[in-house]
Amino acid sequence: MSKVLVTGGAGYIGSHTCVELLNAGHDVVVLDNLSNSSKEALNRVQTLTAKSVDFVEGDILDEVVLDQIFQNHQIDAVIHFAGLKAVGESQKIPLKYFENNISGSISLVQAMERANVFNLVFSSSATVYDEANISPLNEDMPTGMPSNNYGYTKLIVEQLLEKLAQADERWSIALLRYFNPVGAHKSGLMGEDPQGIPNNLMPYVTQVAVGRREKLSIFGNDYDTVDGTGVRDYIHVVDLANAHLCALNNRLNAQGCRAWNIGTGNGCSVLEIKNTFERVNGIEIPFEFAPRREGDVATSFANNARAVQELGWTAKFGLEDMLADSWNWQKQNPNGYRD
Ligand code: NAD
Ligand code: UD1
Repeated sequence: MSKVLVTGGAGYIGSHTCVELLNAGHDVVVLDNLSNSSKEALNRVQTLTAKSVDFVEGDILDEVVLDQIFQNHQIDAVIHFAGLKAVGESQKIPLKYFENNISGSISLVQAMERANVFNLVFSSSATVYDEANISPLNEDMPTGMPSNNYGYTKLIVEQLLEKLAQADERWSIALLRYFNPVGAHKSGLMGEDPQGIPNNLMPYVTQVAVGRREKLSIFGNDYDTVDGTGVRDYIHVVDLANAHLCALNNRLNAQGCRAWNIGTGNGCSVLEIKNTFERVNGIEIPFEFAPRREGDVATSFANNARAVQELGWTAKFGLEDMLADSWNWQKQNPNGYRD
């Protein structure tokens, strides 16, 4: 069993990953500055697992805090979730994104090097793929210039980490390219808790369902897709969390830097999401068609064969689970962790 430092472990994907790590017998240290999360998420991790998390409230840009963590704990590997992720905000305040996501990642790997810890799993995104690629997207397809600064930071960090591993063979780095994480823990105790108006589809849908928003705007109904609305590869957050454990196992016995897609391989349209949510949960989602959103592509879904073959990972949950679990979380926690 390993001791794992989880940066951003109080966040949406990080907190679900902490549960899976603890349930698998690993020890967990979380570093999070709580800029987009609540300590309550970690209380719930502990409730669900009946195990304790070592929590350090601090910033990945703070090298003193990082060095202290590596001195106080015998860390075997790091899972690096900490980062800012609001696409619109990244267009308005790019420097904040460059500092937090790019400089923050550099600060982290510098501290890892000082501490002789060379196993890293990094949260990347399908947004790094060139938009000209035709789905299903596989890892050998070219990356391209993402349509926003958030995506750009993911591409830059991927490239930095690749070059680092090329230059120094002690490094073993997994780049996990997430498709569209949705869903929540089955218990309804943990889930996605965005601040302000949600940018992403699923939290918007659940906030309409719970009465916090009036209606869903569907961005574009004239794409070249099954019903004209955008197609994405939605992946249950618990399946995604488990991909990190698989990547960790893989990296503890390997060298170099390698990318894996984490998606189900199934494309699903916005209308399918809305209709399936209504059917599974018995709630109507009022909606309107609105113009296309800038930067959106028509279709994006994964070829996940590499993760299945090399990591021994599979997605266990289907769309109905994702939508039922998202709703179960939102219904039990109408105001997220702020109740
Ligand atoms: P999240 O905002 O819920 O979690 C990120 C966590 O990092 C938060 O708890 C936040 O407080 C913390 N954090 C941010 N900056 C920090 C800093 N400088 N120092 C310490 N802590 C810091 O987001 P999430 O959805 O859980 O995403 C986790 C990672 O996965 C992010 O890197 C994100 O970019 C990436 N990702 C997310 C998605 C998605 O759709 N959710 C898709 C692809 C990639
Ligand atoms: C978006 C980001 C991407 C980021 C990812 C995870 C953009 C252009 N892309 O991806 O960089 O990695 O989130 O954070 O922002 N939709 C609606 N109405 C809504 C919200 C979304 O119709 O209110 C549609 C979108 O047009 C899209 C689909 O739902 O077709 C999914 O959208 P979203 O959840 O924002 O994810 P992505 O666009 O795939």
